[in-house]
Amino acid sequence: MSMDKNDFLKLTANYLKFYNEHYNYEISDNELIDNRSGDRFFKILKDNETEKPLPDLKRISHVHNDDESKIAEDIGLNNITKVWKGSQNLETFSKLIRDCPKCLVLAETRKQIVFGTGNPNADIVIVGEAPGADEDEQGKPFVGRAGKLLTDILKAINFSREEVYICNILKCRPPANRNPLPEEIINCEPYLYKQLEMIKPKMILALGTLAAQTLLRSKETLGKMRGKFHTYNGIKMMVTFHPAALLRNPGWKKPTWEDVQLFRTEYEKMIKQEAI
Ligand code: URA
Repeated sequence: MSMDKNDFLKLTANYLKFYNEHYNYEISDNELIDNRSGDRFFKILKDNETEKPLPDLKRISHVHNDDESKIAEDIGLNNITKVWKGSQNLETFSKLIRDCPKCLVLAETRKQIVFGTGNPNADIVIVGEAPGADEDEQGKPFVGRAGKLLTDILKAINFSREEVYICNILKCRPPANRNPLPEEIINCEPYLYKQLEMIKPKMILALGTLAAQTLLRSKETLGKMRGKFHTYNGIKMMVTFHPAALLRNPGWKKPTWEDVQLFRTEYEKMIKQEAI
């Protein structure tokens, strides 16, 4: 297929936007691949062209279709794909992904994966951003200063840490606590998805901008997304400020308090309805 440069740039921009919104598309040097169906959408290069149009884009490493199995093997994904369906509970699943190699830098720098803790049959799942130093050290989410505040927030709405389930978008600590990279989120979100599939919570509370934007596939500000209910994969979800953000900006405590009250009220309503 031949294409003029403007068309190519426009298409590329559209694909990147689409890709960014849906996370299921892989852009290799000269084509776009749907990871679910294996469909190849178009070839950018003319047969006799050698220039690489997207030289800087890394391949996205979650790959499912068979003819990509060589790459999958190279990055250790075949193994993960194989065990994926076989995992029946959180414990076996956490062991199976313990040595996840998908994000090379994170795999090299982490002390351990921070899979999640709490009740495997929880009604409520709390989703944060990524482990920090304390979490990486202890292998448990939200055990540092922000974690203590989270514990207090939960207590204030009558939940204990033990009865809910607490985890993060990323299971590994980003070096020096930098923000998670888009590829890292793409690599790791399936693990959260699988966790939720096994826990089957009634509601999710997502903490902070990154968790909210990731789960809602949105670029909105936290201010726009908080204070109301959304759904993630059919599960009722609310987003509110991250406890670390509350430590920096106590002015956000009041809106957070309002959010979690609303969250608790909605939970009570659900429980009551189910009891009828
Ligand atoms: N911040 C997070 O988002 N998650 C943790 O586990 C700890 C701090």
